[in-house]
Amino acid sequence: MSHPNLLVGIEHIDDAGVFKIRDDLALVQTVDFFTPIVDDPYTFGQIAAANALSDVYAMGGVPITAMNLVAFPIHAMEIEVLREILKGGLDKMREAEVVLVGGHSIEDQELKYGLAVTGLIHPDAILTNTGAVAGDWIILTKPLGTGIINTAQKGGMAAPEAVQKAIEVMTELNRKAAEVMKGFRVHACTDVTGFGLLGHLSEMLGAGKIGIKIALDAVPILPQAEEYAGMGLVPGGARRNREFYAPKVQGAKGCTPSLLDILYDPQTSGGLLIAVAEEDAEGILRFLQEVGVKDARTIAEVVAKPKGRLILS
Ligand code: CO
Ligand code: CO
Ligand code: CO
Repeated sequence: MSHPNLLVGIEHIDDAGVFKIRDDLALVQTVDFFTPIVDDPYTFGQIAAANALSDVYAMGGVPITAMNLVAFPIHAMEIEVLREILKGGLDKMREAEVVLVGGHSIEDQELKYGLAVTGLIHPDAILTNTGAVAGDWIILTKPLGTGIINTAQKGGMAAPEAVQKAIEVMTELNRKAAEVMKGFRVHACTDVTGFGLLGHLSEMLGAGKIGIKIALDAVPILPQAEEYAGMGLVPGGARRNREFYAPKVQGAKGCTPSLLDILYDPQTSGGLLIAVAEEDAEGILRFLQEVGVKDARTIAEVVAKPKGRLILS
């Protein structure tokens, strides 16, 4: 599909599509929905909404409207559950100053919820996932391990504090981080979701003109995630990510198996990965922490070679 006004389309494997409607204005559009990952319906609604909104933030856009997508087993579940989910979603939209304009629901055996989101952006301000250049630093704004914690929780093995921290991370909007980015020389951005850290970093390699060197001891990780990974409480998606992305990864031998699981762990409503000019790296990190994005860390450096590789060090 190509069209003169289609600035970012599906062939880019980016976070959202971008369509120019005027020389100074483009629409950012994205949709995301999934089955419950936590027990509490209200919390699930919040997480699903924060996750769907995140793709607009990851493009550098400002979300303005959203529509609910609902699949609900009306004969098998109390309608109150749906009400709580929608309330959680709506409260996140309010926090994001996004207006709910409609939606659609169907009957389904399995509950699913999410949003279609529309945002605005100036065509010159679009941040794709592939603009990083050698010398850039890469910042991650949320700790990893939500997939592993959710798996441990489903297996009845997770400590309440670990679950609570994961929920805090998943319900947090990437809005503040996206606003902070606007004041700095950011070359690329994406959010960490289903492909895990190494999958999304791999997408940032683009056509392979750069490499990315990851400082393992700098990667922020949720409390207990490594312990649960060591107990084998790892979602199937992590293994699929590893099979798919491992050919691009160097230095995995120097990494413990549980840390490697975390690097491939599929995230829900994960943080932004921000590639920023070296001169701006300390400034943006300080600003992020000042506005409350406390877990943000510089985790990697963009290098000229080896090209097309993720180097664990
Ligand atoms: Co995304
Ligand atoms: Co996306
Ligand atoms: Co998405």
